[in-house]
Amino acid sequence: MSAAEDGTADFGFERVSLAEKQGRVDDVFRSVAKRYDLMNDLMSGGLHRAWKSHLIGMLRPGRNRPFRHLDVAGGTGDIAFRVLEAGGPDTDVTVLDINEAMLRVGQERAGTRFSGQIEFVTGNAESLPLPSNTFDAYTIAFGIRNVPRIDVALKEAFRVLKPGGRFLCLEFSRVDLPILEKIYDAYSFHVIPRIGARVAGDKESYKYLVESIRKFPSPGRFAAMIEEAGFSRVTHRVLSGGIVAIHSGWKVA
Ligand SMILES: C[S@@+](CC[C@H](N)C(=O)[O-])C[C@H]1O[C@@H](n2cnc3c(N)ncnc32)[C@H](O)[C@@H]1O
Repeated sequence: MSAAEDGTADFGFERVSLAEKQGRVDDVFRSVAKRYDLMNDLMSGGLHRAWKSHLIGMLRPGRNRPFRHLDVAGGTGDIAFRVLEAGGPDTDVTVLDINEAMLRVGQERAGTRFSGQIEFVTGNAESLPLPSNTFDAYTIAFGIRNVPRIDVALKEAFRVLKPGGRFLCLEFSRVDLPILEKIYDAYSFHVIPRIGARVAGDKESYKYLVESIRKFPSPGRFAAMIEEAGFSRVTHRVLSGGIVAIHSGWKVA
């Protein structure tokens, strides 16, 4: 569950209030922002790049028509840059994140590339400061498990999409191969926090990231939550033996 009816949510393996979860998540990403991209490469052995490319392959932003894209929990801009590279000159992307430290890194990375086609907005996935029926597509990559009220964020995704708009979520999932599971557990709980300590100077943040993956709903349960938010034709595919999954849905009406 994203948030229990008693107003609590999982922060890794702890149960905390909704406000405390968001506050602590914000501390995590403020602390790791400058080393975030390097850590992604180190932790995943570069695999996160392939997963993100897979997401863009599913999205296929039109090259010859206007395409308005929203990337929520967009952090340092990885998804936004890929959408803009794949799209045409009439593609524009709004990168929204609650954390200014992450967005600042994204802005620095973008520099003058994509000028006029990319906008960085500080905001909360649970209450998007954006008008309804606006975007052709909404993506969220490795973001939704950090949001205290996932159900509320999904409803917001539905609201801001145009009818006919596409929702895509890339998130860590459940490893479904027993041998891989053992290796993955050992790597996640023992190696990743150590890399976090060495490279980002922050073991606790990476311990949270690993634990939060374990608390995220199963792919089937998450698909049901996407349907509950109003989306149709909800499907998901797992990649890399279940390390990650991409969920897709459409706003039909
Ligand atoms: C693991 S990073 C993912 C960044 C980027 N999407 C990527 O794939 O590299 C998670 C991001 O979610 C953001 N986040 C956490 N809670 C949020 C919320 N309630 N609304 C918007 N963004 C949020 C964090 O600030 C952080 O930048």
